[in-house]
Amino acid sequence: MNEKKTKIPPLIYGTAWKKERTAELVEKAILYGFRGIDTACQPKHYNELGVGEALQNLKQKGIGREALYLQTKFTPLSGQDPSKIPYDPDSSLKEQVHQSFTVSLKNLGVEFIDTLLLHSPLPSREQTMTVWKSMEELYNQGVVSNLGLSKCYGLTDFQFIYNEARVKPSVLQNRFYNETDYDKMMRAWCHEKEIYYQSFWSLTANPHLLIHPLLRNIASTRSLTEAQIFFRFLNQMQIIPLIGTCSDKHMQEDLSIFDFTLTAQELDMIHSLL
Ligand SMILES: NC(=O)c1ccc[n+]([C@@H]2O[C@H](COP(=O)([O-])OP(=O)(O)OC[C@H]3O[C@@H](n4cnc5c(N)ncnc54)[C@H](OP(=O)(O)O)[C@@H]3O)[C@@H](O)[C@H]2O)c1
Repeated sequence: MNEKKTKIPPLIYGTAWKKERTAELVEKAILYGFRGIDTACQPKHYNELGVGEALQNLKQKGIGREALYLQTKFTPLSGQDPSKIPYDPDSSLKEQVHQSFTVSLKNLGVEFIDTLLLHSPLPSREQTMTVWKSMEELYNQGVVSNLGLSKCYGLTDFQFIYNEARVKPSVLQNRFYNETDYDKMMRAWCHEKEIYYQSFWSLTANPHLLIHPLLRNIASTRSLTEAQIFFRFLNQMQIIPLIGTCSDKHMQEDLSIFDFTLTAQELDMIHSLL
């Protein structure tokens, strides 16, 4: 089973680390034109309630839930701040997933989620599959349209999950950086299996690419910024970047990347830098 009921927008607004500014920034990003939102039931880094507040405000401005793609995450205990765990840490893994998801729906004020991601694999494959099966139950209840995985960098680990899963992963969300060879093998496999690949750290892990003369030259020739060129490159490579900018200017610049298309030669040149 790998029904992709949802078409994922080509850019997703990331909501980590925005604390009390979350509602204001999410609302702004959507009003500028973002249509995808990434959050997590992980109070340590995300203010999911703030995303919910933005959704309420947007509804009043005529942008309803159905116009948006919304994804959240189940974060295992190891990723939670021990003083702010959003579920009962003594309950079973299966229960933790259900409790976390109930909190997400409440925080966000919605009845369904487009994609539920497992924030990172657990220490053992058995534990990971226990969590995955619990996520499948939510899928089977119809409250989640897609399941996905984040921070999984081993191809064999990912293939194991894929093969064991009844509801196949539709999304892989990973750091896009040199240390994992930019997930080249993972991305090829995702492409083969029609799994959406989402990137984070796309700019922050790659300052060396953004200042590279090749990329700078493409940017200056087109009178665009290096970030715009890089996001468009990712996009044309079938990668969905998560963008967490707090700047109005950057939100608008990033959304305008669909006004131009990089040539095959430009794509090859940038690709050669990875
Ligand atoms: N699955 C995971 O474990 C995980 C981990 C990390 C992040 N994420 C997700 O990914 C999202 C993005 O996080 P990120 O770590 O990739 O970085 P980010 O939060 O998007 O930060 C990008 C940085 O680049 C700067 N920047 C400069 N020019 C920019 C431009 N044109 N557009 C956008 N930013 C520009 C931003 O500054 P300005 O604010 O001044 O623009 C900001 O400092 C998060 O909000 C979260 O949703 C997921």
